[in-house]
Amino acid sequence: MALSDAELRAFEEFEKAGWDRAASRYHEHWGFLSCQSAEAMLNAAQVVDGSRVLDTATGAGYVAAAAEQRRATITGVDFSAAQVELAKDTYPEIDFKVASAEALPFAANTFDAVVMGFGMNHLPNPEAAFGEAYRVLKEGGIFAFTVWASPKPGEGFGIVLTAIDNHGEANSKLPPAPPYFRFADSLEAHRIFNLTGFVEPSTKIVPQYWRHKSPDDVFNAFNEGAVRATAMLQSQPARVREAIRSTVRNEVLKLKKDNVYLVPVPAALSSARKPG
Ligand SMILES: C[S@@+](CC[C@H](N)C(=O)[O-])C[C@H]1O[C@@H](n2cnc3c(N)ncnc32)[C@H](O)[C@@H]1O
Repeated sequence: MALSDAELRAFEEFEKAGWDRAASRYHEHWGFLSCQSAEAMLNAAQVVDGSRVLDTATGAGYVAAAAEQRRATITGVDFSAAQVELAKDTYPEIDFKVASAEALPFAANTFDAVVMGFGMNHLPNPEAAFGEAYRVLKEGGIFAFTVWASPKPGEGFGIVLTAIDNHGEANSKLPPAPPYFRFADSLEAHRIFNLTGFVEPSTKIVPQYWRHKSPDDVFNAFNEGAVRATAMLQSQPARVREAIRSTVRNEVLKLKKDNVYLVPVPAALSSARKPG
């Protein structure tokens, strides 16, 4: 069922407060994972030396930094002031600003490429972000974004969400929210690309792996370094959270390879071109 405007605004506030709080923990737990698909996303967006690139929902700026390595001219934006501070500290040579992906402070036809790493699943109104990417792209420019692939057994999200389903108690502390894995579905991504005016939509799965030293690192990443999943876990009674931790740990123990726990967390990478 469609969410009301008030529900969408409440969800946006929940996300913003959550990212302001979780910025450094996300960096610690998820940064080495999410940056594994940055090169594939920049390839999909055809970013080369001299490209003018916008990285939206930039977080600590991993994709922006990868684009800078290609000698692109890069700007990163995020709606969380804490993330933008972290990005400026981490990559002081890059231009970062506070801005929403749904209302970009740039003129039409400015960029050769717009990219967004793992941001789409946090937006109250993703269609607005597609529209803004389209508006600020030059003709022929490409919009590419990653989201977490749909959860599967034996993979990061599948392990944790199944454990929450099996042990968790229904909690009303989460605000009503858009579906988290909506754009992991390539048909839905292509539908919104087409509706926005983009052409040549394409989607592929990009492998990514956590290489953890401790079997508790996966639980800790969700328990401390996210927004919706963290709120879901934190709102459980302590004994339930402990049962979830223990189930996640047992699943992660099965993934030991050499000296690490090798946990697949694939990305779904979608891209399309503005005609011209
Ligand atoms: C999962 S993190 C991804 C960070 C980074 N791009 C990466 O690849 O790891 C999601 C980011 O989206 C940002 N975000 C969420 N909603 C946003 C919005 N409406 N506009 C801009 N940024 C947003 C959050 O502040 C957070 O930094």
